[in-house]
Amino acid sequence: MARLMQRLGEGGRIPFDEFMSIALYDPDGGYFATGPLRSEADGDFLTSPEVSPLFGETMARFVASEAGRCCAKTPITVVEAGAGSGSLLDPLLVALTAMDLPPSPIEPWAIEVSDAARRRLEARIPDVRVVASLEVVPARRCGVVLANELLDNLPAAIAVRRGAGWAERMVETDGESLLWAEGPARPAVAAWAERFCGPVVEGSIVEVQIEMGEWIAAALSRLQCGSLLVVDYGDTAAGLASRREEGTVRTYSAHHLGPDPLLLPGTTDITMDVNIDAVVEAMEEAGAGVTVFTQAEFLTQWGLQDRIAELRALELEHARSGATMPRLQAHSAITGARALLHPRGLGDFRVVVGRV
Ligand SMILES: C[S@@+](CC[C@H](N)C(=O)[O-])C[C@H]1O[C@@H](n2cnc3c(N)ncnc32)[C@H](O)[C@@H]1O
Repeated sequence: MARLMQRLGEGGRIPFDEFMSIALYDPDGGYFATGPLRSEADGDFLTSPEVSPLFGETMARFVASEAGRCCAKTPITVVEAGAGSGSLLDPLLVALTAMDLPPSPIEPWAIEVSDAARRRLEARIPDVRVVASLEVVPARRCGVVLANELLDNLPAAIAVRRGAGWAERMVETDGESLLWAEGPARPAVAAWAERFCGPVVEGSIVEVQIEMGEWIAAALSRLQCGSLLVVDYGDTAAGLASRREEGTVRTYSAHHLGPDPLLLPGTTDITMDVNIDAVVEAMEEAGAGVTVFTQAEFLTQWGLQDRIAELRALELEHARSGATMPRLQAHSAITGARALLHPRGLGDFRVVVGRV
């Protein structure tokens, strides 16, 4: 990657968040910015909306409720950030359009840094405005901004506990390979780590998600009335404490844990657990009232268990009448929906809703 080599040549070493930003987002070789669509069954990882369209359909009931609260006289703005293949937004909009809503038009937006994803979204979803950046969405709208598995990709610094203070993980090169290095932590990095690290011992590794907080503030600034809803893997600072020895940064490639992030920049996803306390604080600082759910709790609250019961009744009816294909379709829909609720899998992801 030319930009990476240029930066390492200029400065000798760069902080991990700058490395991550180049590896994922550089227009010339960044993992998300270039290459194929990443979030599909034959891509590198599988997300909830790729597992089942009932994820988007269930989210539609939440969006409808927010529209009822906020959008009596204004367009219902629905923004999905990091919209990938459209597997969340598409069923969500289909279900929303079929609902009894305020008599306001629905204005859907999809934000994607990936060219391949933007092309897919335009082809898949009628009338959606597909853009590359959140800043293009007008501010002070009424509706909902959604992001599934986006925050875990936003560039983060890495702080390392040293004595009573913090060092910072850097990236450098010996001319052939990329290497880890350590330097003094920047003051903002040390302050964030101190605030959100939870109880940690010497050598503990804390991902410092400052850019995530900035993204949350920018997303909430799009809304005058409505909600920012983010879904991701992660935990509270205290819940993450047991993972601090190794840290939580990891890579994914073809559905498997990939190599060290420094080995093949631009070719693997780089991700980490999201610090939910930091998400809550960023939303509160931006003026939102915040509620945290597990994904299973949230989807159950918005009717997914009831949909599963309906599908089971349908499956039984088809079994009785000997309609094999429809029975198998109902069965497969039930299996997908149950995967969204699994307590040791997707059901344990966190949903954080910031309401303004
Ligand atoms: C893990 S995938 C999730 C895709 C989709 N939300 C889903 O659940 O299937 C992350 C997506 O976010 C996009 N992305 C990453 N950072 C972004 C950013 N800062 N703004 C917009 N899109 C971003 C990537 O291109 C990728 O499609």
